[in-house]
Amino acid sequence: MKHRFPKTLLLALSLASLIHGASADQLPGEAKAFQCTGCHGPHGMKSAPGQPAIGGRDPDEILALLKDYQSLHRINPAMLALLIGLRDEDLEDIAEYFSLVGEGHL
Ligand code: HEC
Repeated sequence: MKHRFPKTLLLALSLASLIHGASADQLPGEAKAFQCTGCHGPHGMKSAPGQPAIGGRDPDEILALLKDYQSLHRINPAMLALLIGLRDEDLEDIAEYFSLVGEGHL
């Protein structure tokens, strides 16, 4: 395969599996949220410059923010590229995932 995972993503994946163990497999949002962890950290606890971490926040609040990016009410080209193909159900799973894994909830 020509494509190689960036090292940060591999690190995020190994950290996530170390910390979560088997239970994380049961969260449908984990696989969908994986693409976000390179920037936001495995638990959504790494903040992008000038904004709060996303992990551990209210799932409805995270969901509303994701819909803002998807509908271009907020602009972030890197996130839009990931969000554009996702259904509401996917966004809900991702919001739930970051809400639960942030601040050591799992
Ligand atoms: C390329 C890096 C990158 C990726 C990948 C990325 N984000 Fe972001 N995210 C950012 C940056 C930078 C901001 C702040 C942008 C802004 O000021 O609106 C942000 C903002 C956010 C916010 C708003 C936080 C707040 O309080 O304003 C949420 C929620 C979020 N991202 C979730 C996600 C999710 C879910 C994914 C995966 C689908 C994702 N991001 C993928 C870089 C990224």
